[in-house]
Amino acid sequence: MFTHKRADFGDGFVFGTATASYQIEGGQTDGRGPSIWDSFSRTPGNVHNGETGEIACDHYNRWAEDLDLLREGGFDAYRFSFAWPRLIPEGTGRVNQAGIDYYDRVIDGMLARGLKPFATLYHWDLPSALQDEGGWMNRDIADWFTDYALLIHKHFGDRLHAVATINEPWCVAWLSHFWGAHAPGYRDIRATARAMHHVLLSHGRAVNALRAEGQGNLGIVVNLQKAEPATDSPEDVAANHLFDGIFNRWYLGGVTQGEYPADVVEWLGANLPDSVPGDMNTVGADLDWLGINYYSRSLMAHDPQSPYFPVKDVPGPLEKTEMGWEIYPKGLTDLVTRVANDYFKGPIYITENGMAEVRGTDDPRRIKFYDEHFAALLKAKQNGADIRGYFAWSLLDNYEWAEGYAKRFGIVDVDYRTQKRAPKQSFNAFKAMLSD
Ligand code: FCB
Repeated sequence: MFTHKRADFGDGFVFGTATASYQIEGGQTDGRGPSIWDSFSRTPGNVHNGETGEIACDHYNRWAEDLDLLREGGFDAYRFSFAWPRLIPEGTGRVNQAGIDYYDRVIDGMLARGLKPFATLYHWDLPSALQDEGGWMNRDIADWFTDYALLIHKHFGDRLHAVATINEPWCVAWLSHFWGAHAPGYRDIRATARAMHHVLLSHGRAVNALRAEGQGNLGIVVNLQKAEPATDSPEDVAANHLFDGIFNRWYLGGVTQGEYPADVVEWLGANLPDSVPGDMNTVGADLDWLGINYYSRSLMAHDPQSPYFPVKDVPGPLEKTEMGWEIYPKGLTDLVTRVANDYFKGPIYITENGMAEVRGTDDPRRIKFYDEHFAALLKAKQNGADIRGYFAWSLLDNYEWAEGYAKRFGIVDVDYRTQKRAPKQSFNAFKAMLSD
């Protein structure tokens, strides 16, 4: 059980769990168009065991049972994402009515169970037809994304408690266009620089358009990594500073101040689109809240093998999760305090935090992980951060992107052969704390 009580977090504090469409839904035969994850996962070498999200947790059919679990656990909210290709199969134009009906059912299902819907508009399943046009590399995506956001507003807006435009823009840009680890699997700095800007331009334009239509409680979800230099050497300190710029300062500076860090702008140079200066007002559109996903830290060192980007991460000494990520609760305190001091005074939600663990419903390490991160979050709150809620990643074991089904983050076990759900001890710990 956790050592914390619900009351420790203050009145009105929201507890929820988070998921994402491609990772749980399956249900790809009901008019849904292809996404970049369908083709990326079907390309040998990209995903562990060549696994795809074709069926995943079959949430498309089992959503009611899964929402029942949330209610049973005593949660207040559910963070989910819309699948763009389910609603607009080619990314623009024709709407898939079966997709509208599906999200109608799921959102009404949340409300019927007293769960606040926290919607994410984009959690990585870009319609393939838009990738054919260059995807995030093409500036037109700001229009495509805004039209999609307005469609969601029109059909579901009055039932959504909060809306996040983009999940983890660093992953959309760097992980997917520079490291090539996620769809579309590019490894090109110009592609990356364009995606880094267009993803935030799309965010800002959609925020402005949604607000103009009366949609409230608008935010974005950034993932922050606690970057620390591996040693005190000036080279490692410089490598760490650049990594922090690319991972954290770019997105925080962009969305909260309408300004990118000058050192990163200079480093990206002519790879960035010329339109950047004129776009920054839009990128910095007012936010009603900021979501932070936190998992781990990285120790950064100078990499002499890589003259253009002389930065690499080195293994750290701390206990690791099944992802190989160091468990570092202090990083949550440090990052949230930094955001509150340097970037954003408004409401903050921890929109993801959790760990991959070996399979089994007995998961004491995960219980300890959550409990230690609660303590870290409460410290950030004492430091003055306005933290309004916390979402565990994830409700269910699910499709962990390039790791396929091998890595299990759920507080509920999923048997992928039978689709049977089995709450883990960590689920029971949440239930005990939340019904306290
Ligand atoms: C985050 C993603 C989420 C999940 C967790 C483990 O980066 O937003 O979909 O994969 O990591």
